[in-house]
Amino acid sequence: MNQNNMLYIGGMSVEDIAQQFQTPLYVYDENKLTDKMDAFVNLFKSDQFDCEVLYASKAFSCKAVLELAHKHGMCLDVVSGGELYTAKAANFPMERIYFHGNNKSITEIKMAFAYGIGCIIVDNIMEAYQVAEIAKTYNKPMKTMLRVNPGVEAHTHEYIVTAHVDSKFGISINRMDEIWEVVSTLNAVDNIEFIGFHAHIGSQIFDAQAFKAEIETMCQFISNFEQTYGYRASALDLGGGFAAYYTSEDAPIPLPEVCKMILDTCTNEFKHYNLGIQKVMIEPGRSIVAEAGSSLYRVGFLKQTQSKNYLFVDGGMADNIRPALYQAKYNADIANKMNAEKDTIYTIAGKCCESGDILIKDIALPKAEPNDLLVMYTTGAYGFSMASGYNRLLRPAVVFVKDGKGRVAVRRESYDDLIALDCGENDE
Ligand code: LLP
Repeated sequence: MNQNNMLYIGGMSVEDIAQQFQTPLYVYDENKLTDKMDAFVNLFKSDQFDCEVLYASKAFSCKAVLELAHKHGMCLDVVSGGELYTAKAANFPMERIYFHGNNKSITEIKMAFAYGIGCIIVDNIMEAYQVAEIAKTYNKPMKTMLRVNPGVEAHTHEYIVTAHVDSKFGISINRMDEIWEVVSTLNAVDNIEFIGFHAHIGSQIFDAQAFKAEIETMCQFISNFEQTYGYRASALDLGGGFAAYYTSEDAPIPLPEVCKMILDTCTNEFKHYNLGIQKVMIEPGRSIVAEAGSSLYRVGFLKQTQSKNYLFVDGGMADNIRPALYQAKYNADIANKMNAEKDTIYTIAGKCCESGDILIKDIALPKAEPNDLLVMYTTGAYGFSMASGYNRLLRPAVVFVKDGKGRVAVRRESYDDLIALDCGENDE
């Protein structure tokens, strides 16, 4: 919302947010976060089978967001002991947690059993043997699934069907004997129940046909597998990848449309192959948190070169690696000049010692001055979670704003935090 030339987030003026919490800052509009959670949970429902929406916490994990995810009816996808530990600290119900990852450590697998999580999603044959062995030492039930690789790959605007035999994730559906070895190894253990298969075909997917192709391929595979080995799967996890809106180049599939298409395709394919699937899961990460989050920076120095107007901000690639790593594009505004004419083209650069530390390449903004507030939109996913401590910049705080009030979700790193783990010559 824009009022008197000033941007408001969650009912609070961005200047007030910056005054109260300082910059650089990750700001989330809490209602936008929870609206997305509610929308997924309400839209992804069927009268044919059970449905679960797992929040992929790699997109943004901290206690406050996991508390919201639980309150709003989501299950959780974690991929490390650290993400699992955060979930435990947030009192997330352990039985609603699914544990992913291609190289879980023995300690992490033991942690999953000790915590009593809902399901381990096994990624490869060695992991299956490891999980089976560890399970025998715990007198606790554990559900398991296997990540397979359906050979459907989708990134951004297109999907392709490939043999895709060399992915580091999962086992190719062409390797039926190996998949059977996983299933039979796990099912041979008394306290393990193998419930079905998982696939994830990419991220920031704009093409609904990609999800359709994934479901069709998976159902055909599950049917072949059942006919060959007699194993009847009861669960199918379709992974995440739903797109978010970053710039006007993006046109995410509306949520009602993509949910309906997934549910309808599942219903049809389950019937067509006479499958026994009773539960379908999806794992959105980015689409839950991206658009609710913005990064707030103070403008520092400005400088002109032969062909560029540089606008320097007090953060950069340490708090958002995505432009440097993926050439990701973002939109931005000068939050205290919302009505001013956008008559200057700027290159927005951070303060890291790296020429690649450019947040936005050419963006039209009003003429900027030091101390202006730059807001960069849609940074809620994979910003905070991929932040680094490069140049020993302090990690920004995370603030949730709702009904005109902000609360700290993650406090700003201090210089003492920065050296808290360092061991110098004179330290014990
Ligand atoms: N499930 C699995 C098994 C995944 O590997 C991922 C993402 C998700 C769910 C969630 O996908 P989402 O709904 O967020 O697209 N760092 C990259 C994105 C990496 C995604 C990795 N896996 C980025 O910043 O674009």
